[in-house]
Amino acid sequence: MKAQATASAPAKVILLGEHFVVHGGPAIVLAIDKRATVKAKARTDRKIRIRSNAVKASGYYLNNRFYAEEGGEDAMEKLEPIYAVVKDLLALSSKRVGVSIDISSSIPVAAGLGSSAAVAVASAAALDQLLETGLTKDEIFRAAFDAEKIVHGNPSGVDPAISTYGGVIMYRRGEKIKKLDVDADLPLVIGDTKIERSTGQMVAHVGDLKRRYPSVVDNIMRAGGEIAATSVEALKSGDLETLGEVMNMNHALLYAVGVSNEPLERLVYAAREAGALGAKLTGAGGGGCMIALAAKEKLEDVAEAIEEAGGEAFITRKTMDGVRIEG
Ligand code: MEV
Repeated sequence: MKAQATASAPAKVILLGEHFVVHGGPAIVLAIDKRATVKAKARTDRKIRIRSNAVKASGYYLNNRFYAEEGGEDAMEKLEPIYAVVKDLLALSSKRVGVSIDISSSIPVAAGLGSSAAVAVASAAALDQLLETGLTKDEIFRAAFDAEKIVHGNPSGVDPAISTYGGVIMYRRGEKIKKLDVDADLPLVIGDTKIERSTGQMVAHVGDLKRRYPSVVDNIMRAGGEIAATSVEALKSGDLETLGEVMNMNHALLYAVGVSNEPLERLVYAAREAGALGAKLTGAGGGGCMIALAAKEKLEDVAEAIEEAGGEAFITRKTMDGVRIEG
């Protein structure tokens, strides 16, 4: 057995279809060049120790009891999903060992960029290497998806899917993940409102609205599905104008189901006024991040406008690399 193993997995942005994907609609997602890295080490005792710079928490489990080391009372809740991945992988392995998990991530947390999923995917892959469980990519995705259910309640699985496979995908609950061939660069600016929010709560809000206004919300979601379908040709042919336009329409639908807010609107409008081809919130909304698609020569202007409107902006692009063994 190896003494240690390291794996990394990318953050994501949802280009189109968040929330609607929870209810069976399609989402178009891309992996971006920010990653979470997880190092897994075997221990001679039976402790499962987890330390995360991402959520500023550390502690260990012994005989299913948690002992916090950093992060106070919240530490256990924050580390629970990773503990679930560790238990899952240990159950699949014949090795009876303890493990130390060290998480370092440059992905903003609770911002809509899939930080928790990237950490869960990288953890499953690092443990798979360490424990020699021989998991396929799909099994790594499934282990991370189970962990996401602890964090988010009713997740669609889109976040662990893109962190596992990378590139650009069309994701639909219960269907095979469809990789899209996208040669275009997709130059994006991400604007972070710096307002943290719970994905689970935002998902529950949309679910509640759908229960109360089924025909209205179903029609909004149907339009969301049409938008995602329209984008596929645009993505393949590199037609950024069309892509920007459908992103704007998708944002309007997300506004309609109540997941935008004033800080997000400010950033979206600032980006459009600075020349973005399209701008929308990304992920769960209620804070977190927005994205703007812009021609290369406009990226700096758009980023500056987002900063002036109170956001934190960074330029990003897609990455083809999904989960990766680093050593
Ligand atoms: C979160 O990144 C995207 C949501 O659609 C939730 C999910 O798909 O699990 C809001």
